[in-house]
Amino acid sequence: MTTLAPLDVLCAANKDFLCRPIGMLIDGAMVAAQSGKTFAVFDPGSGREIAQVAEGDAADIDLAVKAARRAFQDKTWSGMKAHARERLMHRLADLIEAHADELAELESLDQGKPVAMARHLDVAGSVDYLRYMAGWPSKLEGSTIPVSVPYMPNRFFAYTMREAVGVIGCIVPWNFPLMMAVWKVAPALATGCTVVLKPAEQTPLTALRFGQLVMEAGFPAGVVNVVPGFGGTAGAALAAHPDVDKVTFTGSTEVGRHIVHAATGNLKKVTLELGGKSPVVICEDADLDIAIGGAAMAIFFNQGQVCTAGSRLLVHKSMFDKVIEGVSAIASSFKLGHGLDPETQLGPLVSKEQIDRVSGYVKCGLADGARATAGGQVVDRAGYFMQPTVLVDTSPGMKVVQEEIFGPVVVAMPFSHMDEVAAIANNTEFGLGASIWTRDLNKMHALAPAIKAGTVWVNCHSIVDPAMPFGGFKQSGWGREHGKAGIELYTETKSVCLML
Ligand code: NAI
Ligand code: MG
Repeated sequence: MTTLAPLDVLCAANKDFLCRPIGMLIDGAMVAAQSGKTFAVFDPGSGREIAQVAEGDAADIDLAVKAARRAFQDKTWSGMKAHARERLMHRLADLIEAHADELAELESLDQGKPVAMARHLDVAGSVDYLRYMAGWPSKLEGSTIPVSVPYMPNRFFAYTMREAVGVIGCIVPWNFPLMMAVWKVAPALATGCTVVLKPAEQTPLTALRFGQLVMEAGFPAGVVNVVPGFGGTAGAALAAHPDVDKVTFTGSTEVGRHIVHAATGNLKKVTLELGGKSPVVICEDADLDIAIGGAAMAIFFNQGQVCTAGSRLLVHKSMFDKVIEGVSAIASSFKLGHGLDPETQLGPLVSKEQIDRVSGYVKCGLADGARATAGGQVVDRAGYFMQPTVLVDTSPGMKVVQEEIFGPVVVAMPFSHMDEVAAIANNTEFGLGASIWTRDLNKMHALAPAIKAGTVWVNCHSIVDPAMPFGGFKQSGWGREHGKAGIELYTETKSVCLML
């Protein structure tokens, strides 16, 4: 366990950012909430309050939606030359890159993750993502359609256009706060939409700094609005707002259902990235040197707070003991500590609520008869630290095997034959990701189509790319993000049909 990093290690820019209440971004200005209320933001590595942030509710969401609507209708953004939009998006990416160390420090402090990971994954990934999406404005094209009306042949010419959906409500979680915001905002900007972003109440800081950088880059007022606040107030108001054209959400399956209900008023479009219980399948012929480390990182990366976390470990019975021994040894070897301590390998969970939830699941699993070969306990120190945990002796009906835990807890089970693997892997209401660890291409090709998941990784896990479609089967979501598939969901297709 490494020691707590004192807050006086923060860079001058972050000290300055945090020293007074942080406003929300509405129509190009950082403003206080209409109600005047603020809420506290905590450092999960110490439990200490680090900032006060304006607390948005329905009134602020309404102002933000009005600003986004005006910016959409007056075409300052959607009517801007595609290359000019691209240039602004690149400028924003450059600004994030220029402030990368500062943003990484802020993300680590707010979310708990190791600062090096925040720098090289969250911030670097956000920059890459923006640059990928910045390529799209000049490439949004339709097609020509052969039309053959039987009684009037050769009289028609038809083509399609892709138009921006309009005002987008982006509701994001706390596991990758900046990156999740960018995953939603960047494709919206690329297609000419305008946005109201609601960050998670646990981690609003980098989204607000992002909002400031949007203005510094020179985006027209109202194109991007950022309203921090709680899910039941600000989030629910955004999901239900009659003048929002689409909501894109990442978070729990439970809230995903609320959003679908809230969207019925004006039948706004909805994209959902929800929970998962992703299987990691280690076949008899797998290279164990790679697979053991891969399985450990599949679950323990970001303290297991990853929608695609490899939280069910399925191992061929001939190597089950060896894999469990290896993964448990890695679990026990991690240096837990404050995210800003450079020695830290695993940080805290994001909040008191989350550590209570995760430790509650572990207790329940042990009470149901599972056995911990590593971890199993909350760490007795300030902050919200949970030991990386491996549970064996599990059975399919256990809560820990069925439900998303969203913490550093993996449930392991052996299998005997390849022909039973798909059924075990698919024995869940979720279908987000899966990984197969094997050297046998035939085995991999047989299994990949049989697993119901939006992404199947082979000899790797949780690799995402701005160009590769990402999303869930079953109750893991609706629609896809990233790449062309993601871009299309921020556009409406218009068919234009001419009689010649
Ligand atoms: P959550 O789904 O409640 O929060 C995600 C976002 O939704 C936050 O911005 C929150 O303010 C907002 N929200 C909450 N209630 C809302 C409502 N009624 N209407 C509109 N927006 C609302 O997730 P929470 O409570 O933080 O975590 C609970 C569990 O959800 C976790 O243990 C994990 O299993 C899952 N989760 C999954 C994530 C993923 O990436 N798929 C991310 C975060 C949580
Ligand atoms: Mg919640």
